[in-house]
Amino acid sequence: MLRTKLIILGVGSVLSCAASTLATNINTGDASLVSRQESDVSIDTLGDPCRAIAGKKWVSPKEVRACFNVIAVGPKAKDNILDVVDKTTAAFDHSRPYQKLAPPPFTGEIHENLSADIARIRRTHYKTEFDLHIDVSRSVKRLFDGHTVYFNDCYDSVFLNFLPIPLVYITDNRGVQHVHIAKDAFEVASKEFADQIDVWQNALPRNLRGKLSSLNGAKVLKIDGKDPLSAVDENAKIVGGYQALGTRQNGFFASYNVGADGKMAYSLGNFAQKSLPLDDEVILTIQRSGNISPETITLPYRSRIQTRATWTDKASYRQNLCVAQEGTNGVDAYAPGVLSQAETESPIFKFQQQPPVKVAERKHRAMSVAVDTIPKIDIVHPVQPTPVGNDGFTVSQFYLLDDRKTGVLGLGSFSGSSDSAFEGLQKSLLNGLQSLKAMGATRLIIDVTNNGGGWICVGHWLHRILAGPKASTEPHAGLLSRAPAGPLPLAIVKAIVEKNADPDWWTYHNGLGYQFPNATDFPPNYNWLQPVDKRVVNGELVQFSPLISDGCPASYMFDAPNKPLFDTKKVAILGNGRCASTCAQFSSLMAKKEGSKTVVFGGRKGVQQHYSGIVGGQSTDFVAMDTDVKTTGLKNHRDAPPDLITNSGQGINWRLDFGIWDIREPEEWQSRPADINLPLTLETANNPVAIWKQVAQLLWK
Ligand SMILES: *[C@@H]1O[C@H](CO)[C@@H](O)[C@H](O)[C@H]1NC(C)=O
Ligand SMILES: *[C@@H]1O[C@H](CO)[C@@H](O)[C@H](O)[C@H]1NC(C)=O
Repeated sequence: MLRTKLIILGVGSVLSCAASTLATNINTGDASLVSRQESDVSIDTLGDPCRAIAGKKWVSPKEVRACFNVIAVGPKAKDNILDVVDKTTAAFDHSRPYQKLAPPPFTGEIHENLSADIARIRRTHYKTEFDLHIDVSRSVKRLFDGHTVYFNDCYDSVFLNFLPIPLVYITDNRGVQHVHIAKDAFEVASKEFADQIDVWQNALPRNLRGKLSSLNGAKVLKIDGKDPLSAVDENAKIVGGYQALGTRQNGFFASYNVGADGKMAYSLGNFAQKSLPLDDEVILTIQRSGNISPETITLPYRSRIQTRATWTDKASYRQNLCVAQEGTNGVDAYAPGVLSQAETESPIFKFQQQPPVKVAERKHRAMSVAVDTIPKIDIVHPVQPTPVGNDGFTVSQFYLLDDRKTGVLGLGSFSGSSDSAFEGLQKSLLNGLQSLKAMGATRLIIDVTNNGGGWICVGHWLHRILAGPKASTEPHAGLLSRAPAGPLPLAIVKAIVEKNADPDWWTYHNGLGYQFPNATDFPPNYNWLQPVDKRVVNGELVQFSPLISDGCPASYMFDAPNKPLFDTKKVAILGNGRCASTCAQFSSLMAKKEGSKTVVFGGRKGVQQHYSGIVGGQSTDFVAMDTDVKTTGLKNHRDAPPDLITNSGQGINWRLDFGIWDIREPEEWQSRPADINLPLTLETANNPVAIWKQVAQLLWK
């Protein structure tokens, strides 16, 4: 089932590990430049604002904006971007028609007519390309689909914009909920931003100057003069990513996950970390702990470099970051010379919410992973629980609570970043869970906080070993899916089966990757898109393939035990709801088919919490589809997207899984209500160990 993956992509502007390390390399070491932060917009003598921020690690959002704002909309760029977004999603992403008016329970949330917005943007005049970018990006984000994300490496997270005060949402002993500054905010910020913390220390009003740490745990009464919850809700409107309102609200706050290095990582949340330099400062009214009277403080956002691309001035900024680069577009896999090119990274990798998967490991192509215009960066969490045994494999770590009966699997991703992560992760899951059992664990918490998905087959594997062999796990443990089967995909598969256009299996549309629902391979030259399933969704004709399965049995690389590892009713899936893609597929199956309990922590009262979101099926992007189009000679097809001329990309929700409770409809818009919304205190908020103990108490006392 393995195949060699076509890798021909080469973009230098990708950076997915902690910026602090890399930025040190990026920086030329000129300390005088780095510490020039007090200045306002530092227009240098030549009046080129991109030159003013070149080679710097830290700048102000205003300085970044000034550089962005000198880039005019190229005469062809707007139509080109819109054509690619429109045609890529129309041909290869059949969530789009549903998102015009999503089925319940998401009808109130998701009603984005992308065609209408694309038409509106075509008619609108934009002063700068940055203004255009914001409009396109936010329009696509209104689909609330963390697979279908538009990004542009000229703007998104070129710098990340930070505040040193991540927030938490807690419930007091009378049951009233409040926003607070995290009690470990200073510890986290002073380590991660050691070279910048003084700027914030000095920005505080005179009586607090240098006393940033005294803000730890403070109650937040107002953000920019308004109820803090209105800032949470304003963000939830524009941030995209997840269907459920509660899940987007939760993303505003600090949280954690097992990181790529196996350590607990701290996620700052959408208040303290932003992808675009749109906010210069925040004005907070706070009540510090032990104080009665409210105080008002202003803290600046600071922008830290988050790209490996370099520039010296406006012209080189544009050339290196804004126009199409090697890897922006797909290739004909059989064109001479293509395969000899060095294996490097695709532009979407930076934004995938998983550890940086090695290019060679991407041959395991059945992947479903969330994308966000904010890359996942691992900041060290002050709470580092001690794993038991030696079976942890980077993102999978095993812990045993003091009761000696509750095992915890901390699972940060369904993918990993080492050379043999696909195998290593599966092996780790089997051995680690068996060890927990051997140590006496009879129940299991699977902590999937901020798990953005990964390899689909790893999700199958975990489900299979937990639940044992049964109808829901054999012959395969996943959901059945359908792929888009409109005129262009039909032409692609026709070329593959009738003209042998892809003998070496480079394309996503090659049937060798998938199976019949009964987990048997398609016969040779089988047109797996036929017979087409036609339906009308929100007034639009939608064509799907028949139901197929993921083709995962061959990924059961190790002997799966013939008994369940745990009683699946004594398994709890825990998180902040931000469990996407493969994680959502896995947790939905565990909850809906195996009776596992689901717990979301920290959600707002009265707002339905969902234990996972954006189930998808198999996610991919414009580059991959463009490769399929070019490889099968169909670039001139009426529905084929043109090549991008900007340094952009478009993620897609390609195959869609169909439902567990209702197989006739996609699982995507079916309900995933959490059994429990666990309230947090200032002490337990963003403390994984404290949360695990609370969950064990609550479920199994
Ligand atoms: C969506 O927008 C397009 C373009 O403006 C329009 O033709 C179509 O009727 C709209 N569809 C719905 C369901 O509103
Ligand atoms: C699996 O399903 C396919 C398609 O329906 C069918 O042709 C094949 O005979 C089935 N194989 C088995 C082993 O049931």
